Amino acid sequence: MMAGKKPKSVFFCTECGGESPVWAGRCPHCGSWNTMVEEVIERAAASAATGYLSRVEAVSIVDVDIEKGERISTYIGEFDRVLGGGAFKGSVILIGGQPGIGKSTLMIQAAMNMAANGLKVLYATGEESPGQVADRARRVGDPSRGLMLLPATDLATVERKIEADNYQVLIVDSIQTLHTSMLSSAAGSVSQVRQCASSLVNLAKPRGLTVFVIGHVTKEGFIAGPKVLEHLVDAVVSFEGDSFHQFRLLRAVKNRFGSTSELGVFEMKEKGLIEVADASGYFLQRDGGLGSGSAVAAIMEGTRPFLVEIQALTSTTRYGFPQRRATGFDSGRLAMLLAVLERRCGIELGNQDVYVNVAGGFNIVDPGADMAVCLAVASSHLEKPLKRDTALSGEVGLGGEIRPVAGMDRRLAESGNLGFTNLACASEKTEDTGANFRYSTLSAAISGLLSEKGEEWLS
Ligand code: TYD
Ligand code: MG
Repeated sequence: MMAGKKPKSVFFCTECGGESPVWAGRCPHCGSWNTMVEEVIERAAASAATGYLSRVEAVSIVDVDIEKGERISTYIGEFDRVLGGGAFKGSVILIGGQPGIGKSTLMIQAAMNMAANGLKVLYATGEESPGQVADRARRVGDPSRGLMLLPATDLATVERKIEADNYQVLIVDSIQTLHTSMLSSAAGSVSQVRQCASSLVNLAKPRGLTVFVIGHVTKEGFIAGPKVLEHLVDAVVSFEGDSFHQFRLLRAVKNRFGSTSELGVFEMKEKGLIEVADASGYFLQRDGGLGSGSAVAAIMEGTRPFLVEIQALTSTTRYGFPQRRATGFDSGRLAMLLAVLERRCGIELGNQDVYVNVAGGFNIVDPGADMAVCLAVASSHLEKPLKRDTALSGEVGLGGEIRPVAGMDRRLAESGNLGFTNLACASEKTEDTGANFRYSTLSAAISGLLSEKGEEWLS
């Protein structure tokens, strides 16, 4: 491409793929609204490359060398764990999360660590001034001279800096403030975000440069607008939590170089993010026993067990439709479990509002929490507390059966560590782990674990 000459761009419809030389609010081809996205055309370059492509030979799979690749440590144990043992050299990692959750704090801490360990790190900041970034860095640590700050909102400036000096790590804060003059659309628009991200991928790969890109996530969850971004990068890590709690969870949503099930736990303190390595009992607010409407689930996040308290509240619907609300648990799954409670266990909830809350703001993914959710709802509705010191682990099926879940030995061990002498689970096909309460159906679990009174039930 000739220097100085603005490349040609066209507009594509993300619905039908239709093309238009000018932007339109409504696609001239399929009539969809707000689907036209600007894109640079590089067809000339692509056709020139086909000469090379035709000479590529097919190779037997057994003769291909496995790409081992090197990993770079962030020197933050929880972060490395989520990435699958550090960041792959030459990979692009997207850090997503809501504004104010601590993405910049996490990355400045990682940047300081990496620079202190001899890596050449460039922190490109478009959101905050270098003064603000430096202020935060000095507050949470002791930054070394090797960590370079670059105030930049222009992609070309970042590219030039990377080409000029041999940086090993680039941090972009954030993708929404980065902008390329190849496109006329505004910074933060779908086409800008996508174009900048793909340019960063092209910058990273041949140089073995590791790039961390910060991206804001809207309330709905996806990285502000373009889900397309997730396909371009090698790993997507989401930073979660809520402003009412100190803890923050780091979770891999996509990872080309490792599993996506590991969870990192942090606490936001005055001196930045502190790792919580021993987090299994962190989401348990246990002072004495539990009243009715509460149950403790022994769940797994990746290879790590957690004990989480689930609270439920049922109350008679006063007007309109019954309300069903879940915080920290999938609401579609809650609706299913409530239907199972009605049909298979005879618990009438048709005229009841049902609220389910996972204590501490934890977001549960593991279906092994089903049993605890059902028991908490039944406990609230029947006003009977759960047998004390009992943790639950089991998936609930549509037939009202309790299904075994993986990792029972770890769940049991962790429950024991945290003072839960009983673990209730499925009776079928569960490895013999010594769990002392086993049920094949939800209704058997409800009659076995809930009671009006008695020493062992009350707190
Ligand atoms: P920040 O990293 O700026 O969030 P993001 O980049 O995701 O928008 O973190 C912002 C919040 O973190 C801010 O509300 C203040 C809080 N915070 C602390 O509590 N302690 C600290 O040491 C720092 C740096 C931030
Ligand atoms: Mg920030």
